[in-house]
Amino acid sequence: MSTVVVTGTQWGDEGKGKIVDYLAEQSDIVVRYQGGSNAGHTVSVDGKEFKLRLMPSGILYKGKKCVIGDGVVFDPEVLLNEIASLKKEGIETADYLISNRAQVVMPYHRLMDGLEEDNRGNSKIGTTKRGIGPCYMDRDRRIGIRMCDLIDNELFADKLKTILDIKNHELEVLYNQPPLNYKKILEEYSVYAEKLRPFVIDTPSYLNKAIKNNKKILFEGAQATMLDIDYGTYPYVTASHPIAGGVCVGAGIGPRNIDTTVGVVKAYCTRVGEGPFPTEQLNDIGNQIRNVGHEFGTVTGRPRRTGWLDGCVVKYAGYLGSLDYLAITRLDILDHFDEIKMCVAYKYNDKIIDEMPANLRIFGKVTPVYETFKGWNSDTTNIRKYEDLPEQAKTYLKRLSEIAEVKIGFVSVGPNRNQTIVCAKNIF
Ligand code: GDP
Ligand code: IMO
Ligand code: MG
Repeated sequence: MSTVVVTGTQWGDEGKGKIVDYLAEQSDIVVRYQGGSNAGHTVSVDGKEFKLRLMPSGILYKGKKCVIGDGVVFDPEVLLNEIASLKKEGIETADYLISNRAQVVMPYHRLMDGLEEDNRGNSKIGTTKRGIGPCYMDRDRRIGIRMCDLIDNELFADKLKTILDIKNHELEVLYNQPPLNYKKILEEYSVYAEKLRPFVIDTPSYLNKAIKNNKKILFEGAQATMLDIDYGTYPYVTASHPIAGGVCVGAGIGPRNIDTTVGVVKAYCTRVGEGPFPTEQLNDIGNQIRNVGHEFGTVTGRPRRTGWLDGCVVKYAGYLGSLDYLAITRLDILDHFDEIKMCVAYKYNDKIIDEMPANLRIFGKVTPVYETFKGWNSDTTNIRKYEDLPEQAKTYLKRLSEIAEVKIGFVSVGPNRNQTIVCAKNIF
């Protein structure tokens, strides 16, 4: 086994950063394949917290290659700031590479993300306003700027001129906004180009050679299944493919080269932004989960919506991602609840439905069918072996695995590296 994919199974913030960091120790290369600086992946090392947005979570180990793949929408300013703050913490950051085909996030993307949201009024998506949707939109309109364009000075100057004319026209006509200054953007992005040029490579060629040479490659998903542009709660989704299938298009490797897939599941459920969330608890339970779990967004600081674990969502993620293992995180946040619930099916019009509803008018009205579990009311944060977990916790985890039809690979009982219970041996 030489390639492992780690994806989110719910609505993001499951603890992918922690699991990727944990697995990175055994890998040679860590690759981001989609999304952009909308991600906020927190990794705790020796009590110190690192919040990563574009840099793959392998960067905290010395000597791991960190690759930003073709499918990422790449914001140069964010990465350079991230590198500066990692350096301040004494983290060596030279071992990173950026795909020549990655789309570049431009100032008009961030601006338009905000303006589009304001225009949506009551039907806003609640985006992170990092320009993610507008940048992918320009890729699909074929007016995007890629890293290979950015580092070709003449080509970039020409492309920016043509594209900025279109953007300034749209800013004026659609949003009554003043035009953006060509020279200013050209100068700013030319500085980024000079700084980043040495790190730009052809990532599909690099990764396929690495696969041939039996290197261990870890693919780090951002966002999650329910935020997938096609399979999530559309239109309340992000603009990329976080599911494991996204690795093929976002990193340029074929499906036969994916060996193992791991889906990260938070032991309960959260969501940031708008859109349906059947197991949401708008009550004391929800507040308790938010307060105990400090559930506030890494990128935007927004309070996260909270609720019980939704087994239907994890099952859906299981077959969409052909998941081999679940990595269940934040079990410790449930340590002091008398009762814990898990949704095991949805009812709509008094009938059990066994598909994930695509129609949000239906998904917004499903009633979760809950199973209730006795809480374990004890501290799990120092447990390191699965068999040492309280019986009630094992019953809860076992039931999730049954419903999702995916084996348990890891259980996380705290943010630190050593707070990880490993059931899946030899994952690479
Ligand atoms: P990501 O976006 O999926 O990487 O997740 P985030 O980093 O946004 O949010 C997960 C949070 O949970 C981070 O603050 C992690 O440090 C933390 N975390 C991860 N696993 C555990 C765990 O098992 N227990 C606790 N208490 N915190 C965890
Ligand atoms: P990580 O990788 C949680 C949500 C936003 C919004 C929707 C679209 O840390 O799990 P976008 O800016 O992507 O166009 O916003 O997706 N969203 C996330 N929610 N975790 C994330 O990333 C997210 N990235 C985007 O809140 O609802
Ligand atoms: Mg996050």
